[in-house]
Amino acid sequence: MRNSNESRLAELREALQARPRVSLANLPTPLEPCPGLTRELGGPQIWVKRDDLTGLATGGNKTRMFEYVLGQAIEDGVDTVVGGAAVQSNYCRQLAAACAKLGLDCHLLLRKVRAERDDEIQGGLLLDLLVGAKVETIEGVSWAEHGERIRKRAQELEARGKRVYIGRVGDESRLGRYAVAYTQAFVELIEQAEEAQLTIDEVWMSSSDATQAGLAIAAKHCESPVRLVGLPSLPQPIAPGWTFAECISSFGNECAEILGLPTRLEPDDITSIVDYVGPGYGVLTDAARTAMQLAGRCDALLLDPVYTSKAMAGLIDHVRRGLVAPDHTIVFLHTGGLPALFAYADSLGLEALL
Ligand SMILES: Cc1ncc(COP(=O)(O)O)c(C=O)c1O
Repeated sequence: MRNSNESRLAELREALQARPRVSLANLPTPLEPCPGLTRELGGPQIWVKRDDLTGLATGGNKTRMFEYVLGQAIEDGVDTVVGGAAVQSNYCRQLAAACAKLGLDCHLLLRKVRAERDDEIQGGLLLDLLVGAKVETIEGVSWAEHGERIRKRAQELEARGKRVYIGRVGDESRLGRYAVAYTQAFVELIEQAEEAQLTIDEVWMSSSDATQAGLAIAAKHCESPVRLVGLPSLPQPIAPGWTFAECISSFGNECAEILGLPTRLEPDDITSIVDYVGPGYGVLTDAARTAMQLAGRCDALLLDPVYTSKAMAGLIDHVRRGLVAPDHTIVFLHTGGLPALFAYADSLGLEALL
């Protein structure tokens, strides 16, 4: 095997098989070449792993995660889920769709972060409503207060006899259970690369925590030479007082504990590049707009305005500055987020192309 130690990969497969899981995603997601971008950048071979095609209400990286997270919740007897994040949250959209498929009641408390633009029934919010989530939008509260509201709603539902699973509330320091799915994604990617006789040098992705954590613990356990590069969409990690490398390695280690693997990560194992966030979470940068237009024009690859466009902007910048070896093979992990394109239509700079 060129991308991993075969017996370690088999060990990981076996550990994953022991975990409760429900089927939600269209897997394996395609691994496709990007000839247009490769030509345009004139350097490394660029491939894309299409986790934007996982399938739940347009897909994304969370669909994989809910296979394991809700698999466990259902095994624990849960019938109701309460979650919340920003109005255009991809997490909440895929959670709502997963609940619809699994017959769970879904309550979402969505925080307005884009003033009156968040009143528009568009993008993720539109899909949340279509798949039957009970949505309440709230404004003028901090993330901490938002978390309190979510917990309070869960208590009210429990008092009415519901068995409630509380989704992410925004300030967690324990996300190992979400990372499990990306150890499975690592196995899937390696199997595809072997089949295609492809040696992967680097995987680039938008991640602030769980996605990179799962890939990183899997790669280390499998003694894989593949380098992982994560580009957060937030200026600081969600767990207050931590660095991204600390968060990601800690979530990876929690994930290893869940899977019963002896491997552990150190913060030094993690490459996390925060330089492409720009002025803030969800605020488009010129480089992200350019990356969206380039990926669209070169390979009909649609990137989202909040996550993948900024990660691609980072990759493009590194290639153009000669920081990625020209003979390398790069996989860009597309983590989804496409419905936000419609909610952000007036920020994409497309008027100039008319
Ligand atoms: C489209 C998309 N990409 C990337 C991410 C980052 O995922 P994480 O930080 O959980 O690894 C998210 C998280 O919400 C997302 O919605």
